[in-house]
Amino acid sequence: MLDSTHLRRIAVIVGSNRRDSINRKLAQALVRLGAGKFDASFARIDDLPMYNQDNEGNLPPEVVRFKNELVRADGVLIVTPEHDRSMGKNSRTGKPAFITGTSPGAIGSALAQQHLRSVMTGLGMILLGGEAYVT
Ligand SMILES: Cc1cc2nc3c(=O)[nH]c(=O)nc-3n(C[C@H](O)[C@H](O)[C@H](O)COP(=O)(O)O)c2cc1C
Repeated sequence: MLDSTHLRRIAVIVGSNRRDSINRKLAQALVRLGAGKFDASFARIDDLPMYNQDNEGNLPPEVVRFKNELVRADGVLIVTPEHDRSMGKNSRTGKPAFITGTSPGAIGSALAQQHLRSVMTGLGMILLGGEAYVT
């Protein structure tokens, strides 16, 4: 059973790197409200590189730091902005787009494609019909 006594250490991730981010301010206010109930630490994300499987054996120090911050935490609070109804900056509205992908597994990146489909719909992209999951 989870209760607040098990959630002492909260890693806070702010989904905006903007200097005057209102999401960072919201996160800081939430941390102030939680004073005495939990200990919060802000996990920095602005220096994280894009995921690259080649690095798995020798992770960049920023990634090691970030992972350790999450390992040490009992819980995570994510405070996210919304950009173009989604999580990223949009230069793609109205572009026709097709998604495909491959993986050694049986479903050939189907779930990642499903996530991406919903993000792209929010961006106003014209999703072409058909699906292609390559195993
Ligand atoms: C390119 C761009 C797209 C945005 N799209 C949305 C949106 O879809 N929904 C929304 O509520 N606010 C949107 N906003 C307003 C942001 O919520 C606002 O800029 C906010 O301050 C961003 O969060 P931050 O201050 O933590 O960086 C958008 C802002 C920009 C610059």
